[in-house]
Amino acid sequence: MGFLGPAPCRCDRPGLQRLARRTAFDVPLIRFRTFRNSDPPRLLQLFRQTRPGRAFAYPESTHALELAVFGLPYFDPKGLIIAEDDGNLVGFIHAGFGFSRDLSSLDYTIGVICCALVNPEYQMQGVGKELVSLAEEYLKSRGATYIQAGQSRYRDPFYFGIYGGARPTGFMESDRAADPFFRRLGFTPIQRVPVFQRDLTDRRDPMNFRLMALRRQTELVVTDQPEKPTWWWFCKFGNIESMRFQLVEKKTQTLVASVTVVGLDHYINSWNERAIGLVDVFVEEKFRGQGYGQTLILEAIRRLRTEMITRAEIHIPEDFQDAVGAITAAGFTQVDTGIIYSRTQEHQQIAPA
Ligand SMILES: CC(C)(COP(=O)(O)OP(=O)(O)OC[C@H]1O[C@@H](n2cnc3c(N)ncnc32)[C@H](O)[C@@H]1OP(=O)(O)O)[C@@H](O)C(=O)NCCC(=O)NCCS
Repeated sequence: MGFLGPAPCRCDRPGLQRLARRTAFDVPLIRFRTFRNSDPPRLLQLFRQTRPGRAFAYPESTHALELAVFGLPYFDPKGLIIAEDDGNLVGFIHAGFGFSRDLSSLDYTIGVICCALVNPEYQMQGVGKELVSLAEEYLKSRGATYIQAGQSRYRDPFYFGIYGGARPTGFMESDRAADPFFRRLGFTPIQRVPVFQRDLTDRRDPMNFRLMALRRQTELVVTDQPEKPTWWWFCKFGNIESMRFQLVEKKTQTLVASVTVVGLDHYINSWNERAIGLVDVFVEEKFRGQGYGQTLILEAIRRLRTEMITRAEIHIPEDFQDAVGAITAAGFTQVDTGIIYSRTQEHQQIAPA
């Protein structure tokens, strides 16, 4: 059967009978519905088959999706919208909410479009556009007064460890369709977050007198969680392999700097190596600007090499020049950029990284 012009799309939400634009003959009837418990295997298949760039992991089983998506305490089946053609899952979009300022709950005023995927055979036919529209409707119905496309720090409800690398940050430039798609739908980039990596098999770590002195004065302590873990922390790291590296002054045992390290196991089949992500590098205020950040990163790298880790990744927003300086001084180079979009320029202040 063939269609000339628009063909109907069915949606299982009352009051939502939509038309998706069609560009060819023999185009199927697309039906939109919300998540069902039987969807994970087919979502995994779509995720693995469609992944366009380096930012997508290649999870071995639905267990990875369980930990990063469906198993999270705030997962709402209505926020994950599926596009189906004759019972076949051909696309999905997933929307959620940012965290509150004290990281103890969700802030339902901040809507986030976390992931959008359409099977290549169904792309450029209006499916993605319809999914975005339904995701925005869902977010507004739950109270969102602001919507961003792409996750950012503490506005990162889902896909930790399976999209974005070290952490889910916007939509990656390496996913080439994302930028023209969101711009075409009227979104504007509001933040760019460079992604840096370092090949840990290259053992030429920077060294100078200052770094040698800092290395003598400090030591690396490994713990499994921060002193006061938040609900956000438990949601992100409670169920995955993570470590906390702390740089402390040897004499006083004063905490100088810290970073969380997450294993990127689901990227092994995607990047063909064992990688880790460095998350939330933090130098205590009185120690800033003195080389401690660089020392922490270098000490962490030395420790990780002993665990046979061959690559480290970190995301740092463009406006955090000090952190960018510390990272590049520790031998990292930029490999990608995460871009966060919004429909308006008047976006709310994005939480500092
Ligand atoms: C991004 C993606 C979801 C878009 O889905 P889609 O169904 O192809 O998009 P649509 O057909 O609804 O396109 C909507 C508009 O965006 C435009 N557009 C979409 N992809 C485009 C591209 N690669 N280049 C230029 N324009 C594009 C379309 O032309 C259309 O414009 P129009 O309405 O003026 O004709 C899809 O390309 C995809 O799954 N890509 C791989 C995954 C990905 O990168 N996701 C983002 C990170 S999670």
